[in-house]
Amino acid sequence: MIIVVANQKGGCGRSTIAVNFAAALAQQGKDVLLLDADRQATASRWCENRKVSYADKPKIAYMQKYGPIIEPLVDLNKCHDYIIVDVPYGDSVEMRSAMMVCDVVLMPFGINQLDLSLIPRMHQIVKQARQANPKIAAYAFLNMIRTYDTDYEIDRAMQIISEYPGIVPLDSVAYNRDLFLWGPHAQGLGVVETAGRTDDEIAAKNEILELVDETLKNNESKIESDRYWNQIAISMNEWAFEQDKVSQIADRFRLFPRKLIDGQART
Ligand SMILES: Nc1ncnc2c1ncn2[C@@H]1O[C@H](COP(=O)(O)OP(=O)(O)O)[C@@H](O)[C@H]1O
Ligand SMILES: [Mg+2]
Repeated sequence: MIIVVANQKGGCGRSTIAVNFAAALAQQGKDVLLLDADRQATASRWCENRKVSYADKPKIAYMQKYGPIIEPLVDLNKCHDYIIVDVPYGDSVEMRSAMMVCDVVLMPFGINQLDLSLIPRMHQIVKQARQANPKIAAYAFLNMIRTYDTDYEIDRAMQIISEYPGIVPLDSVAYNRDLFLWGPHAQGLGVVETAGRTDDEIAAKNEILELVDETLKNNESKIESDRYWNQIAISMNEWAFEQDKVSQIADRFRLFPRKLIDGQART
């Protein structure tokens, strides 16, 4: 299953969510690859640090790819259960091409005018992508909620999102928590892997777990169907190979009687 963490707005938390989503899946024993399609390389730096500093933690495979990433994604999807794609800000070829083949677009939004005013743009882009890839499930969720954001402000943000049919606002939210900014969680440790000593750690961990659950809830069956289609694709390749051989053999037989006839004609 391919999950693209996308938004035109920079700094809304794509990389943070991408790496923590991947860590949560890895912790659940899932085979996950993080595809970093952003030249800023935030996600791959996080993964590199993880390899060195948290070698005892479950492995997260990672890779950098830029430009149109349809083909690499299709190939990688055959080898991993989950691919999390971190794309650059803006309207990038990486984001657009990932949407051509993904199952889920997960969009973090901050509760502020600059973030939320990009909903119509993202809605438009998802709509266009669905013409080629109708299976896209598009989810928006609120990230970096501040403790002083009122219920009214949170509801209003959810209301704005829900005015765009085709983008589903998630119930899961993530609060603004300093632990993402410094220390282990900025350097390769998922918040789900925290010892959970402080209230902040426990809350952050639960938020990510809920986000992962809610995002995957309606999409789990896709892994099975991806496997099914990959299987078919593989057997089609084998079939094509067999067909090739069959027609080579048939060609030799076709030549054989012609030669004979030629031979007879000559004698
Ligand atoms: N829930 C959160 N709480 C606190 N800080 C966050 C949260 N999500 C992201 N951040 C911080 O916001 C900044 C931008 O996040 P980042 O994931 O790099 O965004 P993007 O990839 O969209 O540009 C980073 O410093 C990151 O640590
Ligand atoms: Mg980023």
